[in-house]
Amino acid sequence: MKIGIDKIGFAAPDYVVDLADLAAARNIDPNKYKLGLLQSEMAVSPVTQDIVTLGARAAQAILTDLDKTQIDMVIVGTESSVDQSKAAAVFIHGLLGIQPFARSIEMKEACYGATAGLSLAKSHIAQFPDSKVLVIASDIAKYGIASGGEPTQGAGAVAMLVTANPRIMVLNNDNVCQTRDIMDFWRPNYDKYPRIDGRFSTEQYTNCLTTTFDHYQQKTGKTLADFAAMCLHIPFSKQGLKGLQAIGKKDPESLERLTERFHEAIVYNKLVGNIYTGSIFLSLLSLLENSRALKPADQVLFYSYGSGAVCEIFSGNLVEGYQDYLQPDRLEVLKQRTRLNVSDYERIFFEEIQLDETGSSIQLPEDSSPFALTKIENHQRIYRKA
Ligand code: HMG
Repeated sequence: MKIGIDKIGFAAPDYVVDLADLAAARNIDPNKYKLGLLQSEMAVSPVTQDIVTLGARAAQAILTDLDKTQIDMVIVGTESSVDQSKAAAVFIHGLLGIQPFARSIEMKEACYGATAGLSLAKSHIAQFPDSKVLVIASDIAKYGIASGGEPTQGAGAVAMLVTANPRIMVLNNDNVCQTRDIMDFWRPNYDKYPRIDGRFSTEQYTNCLTTTFDHYQQKTGKTLADFAAMCLHIPFSKQGLKGLQAIGKKDPESLERLTERFHEAIVYNKLVGNIYTGSIFLSLLSLLENSRALKPADQVLFYSYGSGAVCEIFSGNLVEGYQDYLQPDRLEVLKQRTRLNVSDYERIFFEEIQLDETGSSIQLPEDSSPFALTKIENHQRIYRKA
């Protein structure tokens, strides 16, 4: 049975910061961000937009009423949870009006969580071919003002509908994973921002890729020549490029082709920043919507990496007519976001909800987005659908 991605959607908050402005404010050469990290802009999420509202918005963009009667599992991969106990998927299930007899769960392993969600979705469809699974990767990456990771921050969500006989991509059964107990990037429960061993994290990203790809080649017999494109986890675009170069150095011809596709696969990531669990799938969306070189049946290679660390290499094949299920004006939509100056970014991105003694929020800012957090009442988050 063919199982895979039937639909894919994306949502980013409405605010953005130009990294040239950030570089000026931090007294850093703008080329460090533009050429050194290969990033141009970062999405900024106000306090009224969290992983629930962004995830719901990404899903709403692709789901029909019929889909909502057929989905029987909602999986949210995230490392920016809004609650230690209740899954964001439960809030999203309610906001979208998905039929009640569904399983809704949250999955965590840094940036890797949604990839695990995709695998679980695939197994579920293999067991129940008539059902549909909604997989959402939703995150807000905050590293702190003037921190090393600041220019790689971002926010956004990717939603994928996983079904039998998918219309965009068939996922193959060639997955190879690796787990390594390391401390390259983590966020203790008592910390607002992650702790990072920056250089170590970049080395581990690449080493996990090269060693897992060796194992993948041994197991599947596939080589880079089999792939039309590669999508990687993109913490910042230069990291992905270095990863591709690391596995491509013995095959310059494939590397050249995959590098051309890579630049099409980072068009959106460069404008959004790191969205943790969703970054690899935003890269897929960017590839599909910006490449003119791809054709049906082409095989795409994936490298998902989550610090801590777990990674996975897998592949998928494009389906005839996949172009009909994309959004060709997405770049225009991204260009319509509100540009913030650096002081407004610092105020908006790092604003925190103040609670009174009853656990209720003091007046939150107005937000006209399709989904928004309107208040916290007795410690309960209250969302609104426009
Ligand atoms: P840094 O140490 O400030 O930067 O931060 P740098 O000095 O390493 O410079 C970065 C690049 O810019 C270098 O390029 C410089 O040469 C270049 P490279 O040599 O690496 O190719 N550069 C310039 N280029 C042109 N003109 C200039 C200029 N100046 C410098 N004037 C660091 C880099 C990655 C450490 C930082 O951004 C950071 O801490 N980021 C967060 C951690 C991260 O993203 N790690 C990636 C791997 S781990 C991962 O992917 C998982 C993650 O997504 C989390 C999760 O799984 O949940 C992060």
